Amino acid sequence: MKPLQGIRVLDFTHVQSGPTCTQLLAWFGADVIKVERPGTGDATRTQLVDVPDADSLYFTMLNHNKRSICLNTKHETGKEVLARLVSSCDVLVENFAPGALGRMGFGWERIQQINPRMIMASVKGFGPGKFEDCKVYENVAQCAGGSASTTGFLGDVPMVTGAQIGDSGTGLHLALGITVALLHRQKTGRGQRVLAPMQDGVLNLCRVKLRDQQRLRAGPLREYSQFGNGIEFGEATPRAGNDSGGGQPGRILRCKGWETDPNAYTYFITQVAVWPRICELIGKPEWIDDPDYATLKARLPRLDEVFAEIEEWTSTKTKFEVMEICNPLNIPVGPILSMKEIAEDQGLRESGTIVEVEHPERGKYLTVGCPIKFSDHNVVVDRSPLLGEHTVEILADVLGYEDDELQRIIESGAVGKV
Ligand code: COA
Repeated sequence: MKPLQGIRVLDFTHVQSGPTCTQLLAWFGADVIKVERPGTGDATRTQLVDVPDADSLYFTMLNHNKRSICLNTKHETGKEVLARLVSSCDVLVENFAPGALGRMGFGWERIQQINPRMIMASVKGFGPGKFEDCKVYENVAQCAGGSASTTGFLGDVPMVTGAQIGDSGTGLHLALGITVALLHRQKTGRGQRVLAPMQDGVLNLCRVKLRDQQRLRAGPLREYSQFGNGIEFGEATPRAGNDSGGGQPGRILRCKGWETDPNAYTYFITQVAVWPRICELIGKPEWIDDPDYATLKARLPRLDEVFAEIEEWTSTKTKFEVMEICNPLNIPVGPILSMKEIAEDQGLRESGTIVEVEHPERGKYLTVGCPIKFSDHNVVVDRSPLLGEHTVEILADVLGYEDDELQRIIESGAVGKV
């Protein structure tokens, strides 16, 4: 018995944010039916193509464990089929541009009329307000959610991050919203609308930066390197480079081989609790009792000097040796892992974090498995569906169309070629 077994999801999502959400629901056991435009489908199927005539990795890595039905929802017969899908599903997830579902004739009021138990969940760029009608992609959300202004180095331009916090991050938020709405429906019998705006999702992940914005009123942010460098703070939370977010100063430091390997670095945290061990490790035992270094408060204006000494030590070791030496001493460090190293890591494959999947068009490829592990539910990652692979199966088995009706729908052209 899978946790969401028996829950059927009408998946109207495309690109990344929505598909991240519905992929999770599928991994939790829901029957996810992806509705795609005949002929083209989700635009990502043909974006960033690496194997000719095969679904791209962009698509396959975001659409595992789903079924695909082709349906032109602007065609009269397509609308009839869509209405039947709405009445047969528990959750509708969409991330169209604002207003698109209404233009299709399936706004929230109509959905409620057809199926009052329906949970209608949306990703949009912005919540209600002056930007609610805007189309939004990942980096726009990172900028509007406060991430870009606080990422990067002081004196340099705002920076977006490699982690897709706007798209995948918001998909995660929406999946949580949907599971809560399902629990609520169990108690009340009613469906509801669930909205996850990307700006809100990014800001939620940047919460500590809004914390710092307010702390500025009380004076400089002493744990930022900028403080030790004597650079005045402005009116807004500044970019903090690679400083640790909290009160345990950390930096990215060179390791053996940094001259030729762009990822020969470690993240090193000078956690207060293990400061004496750090001093001994790097050959500065005199710092343990020296009043200029013994306390965090005394060290904060000297972080450049402290980290320069630690880096003298880390540059004599590989990033993995640093980890092997520091871990038993309880000193928190982390190697900067490249995607190549992650892809080749056997341990990550054994834990299901990286999964190898077989696909009929492209052969074997790697993907990221379910990032949440359950003691009572084993997530099996199945390949993504081909475009319209399950059209007939869904029309017949899920929607109950008999042979003659099935023929009429296929001949109408609303479901494309089958
Ligand atoms: N049959 C017929 N028409 C379909 C269809 C189907 N199965 N599926 C989609 N369409 C139509 C829509 O109804 C819409 O038509 P309309 O503009 O005439 O109303 C059209 O396809 C395009 O949809 P849209 O969502 O506007 O796509 P886009 O490519 O122009 O914009 C985004 C893409 C991502 C910018 C936009 O969808 C968006 O802002 N989404 C919300 C935020 C978001 O999730 N962004 C991150 C994506 S990773």
